[in-house]
Amino acid sequence: MSETYDVLVIGGGLIGLVTAWRAAQRGLRTAVADPAPGGAGATVVAAGMLAAVTELHYGEQALLALNLASARRYPDFTAELEEASGQDTGYRACGTLAVALDADDRAHLRELHALQQRSGLDSEWLSGRECRRLEPMLAPGVQGGLRVDGDHQTDPRRLAGALLTACERAGVAFHRAGAVRALLAGDRAAGAELADGTRISAGRTVLAAGSGSGRLAGLPEEALPPVRPVKGQILRLRVPDAYAPFLSRTVRAVVRGGHVYLVPRENGELVLGATSEELGWDTTVTAGGVYELLRDAHELVPGITELPLVETRAALRPGSPDNAPMLGPTVLPGLLAATGHHRNGVLLTPLTGDVMAEVLTTGRLPDEAVPFSPRRFAPALQEQSA
Ligand code: GLY
Repeated sequence: MSETYDVLVIGGGLIGLVTAWRAAQRGLRTAVADPAPGGAGATVVAAGMLAAVTELHYGEQALLALNLASARRYPDFTAELEEASGQDTGYRACGTLAVALDADDRAHLRELHALQQRSGLDSEWLSGRECRRLEPMLAPGVQGGLRVDGDHQTDPRRLAGALLTACERAGVAFHRAGAVRALLAGDRAAGAELADGTRISAGRTVLAAGSGSGRLAGLPEEALPPVRPVKGQILRLRVPDAYAPFLSRTVRAVVRGGHVYLVPRENGELVLGATSEELGWDTTVTAGGVYELLRDAHELVPGITELPLVETRAALRPGSPDNAPMLGPTVLPGLLAATGHHRNGVLLTPLTGDVMAEVLTTGRLPDEAVPFSPRRFAPALQEQSA
């Protein structure tokens, strides 16, 4: 079987779905190839924090600007998507509290606060007592913390479900099979062959398969986005009605150098994450990973041990060499990337959709995305056309 589209998106996670939805809205005949669109990988494991400010790192000012631009789009994006799909996405403007448990954590948070202030970001230093007044379930030993009222959350599973429906309503075709080999026409990418034997021809092919985006056969090495898998293990607990409200906002900390966060949903789900492990393609949930998450979260919020543990999962974040995304044309004409979002895939979903739709429609990468071209990793070849 053979089909032809303007755009083939390889990967049906949040990034692939938003790219397809926005492309279809702009009138492009669009297909998505994925065995389980919206239902696998990092999309269904991610906690959904929109943490542009609390996940700020030294040396990532350009990424901060991109993250903030996407965070600002979330309310309108959510409203438009909910209207288009008729589904709730679980967006919640709840804010975040990042706390310190000991003197080392406190020093780390003070440095983060100084960096946030130098970057013009809103965050407020609170004493331990003030933190506990906001979140009474916090451990008595909490030393202080940062209140960040602009870092919100969404529910990635609901978001993916809404995007899937919005895509279907916008006319996106879904092929429920993975892409196994790229098709080439002369020196251009021209679609892909799928695991079920279907050949999809397309004017533009978008690699949006998360950490698997660099593995498609049939492409020249220099055109493949350099993504690496970064494993995250995550737990889901349930807050019984008798314990609600357990936490009112996202609560997070750095404990012994590892990040731990608790993301409370309005439906009673409490997401507890996440490990960050560079172990190749392994997605095993390990006793050690679960132990460390529970141990660190218990130091932060001792009451979690009373809650039912309902799910343990692991998935792979798509890391890039500089941990920033790759958006737009690769060095191979007709081949684009939307991957490498690492810790920021959910946050960057609205902006990625807009950027990819613009470049797919006009051939022009919006200014805000130019520093994130995949071609930055192939400088000798970056002059080639889109
Ligand atoms: N942004 C949260 C994580 O990657 O664990």
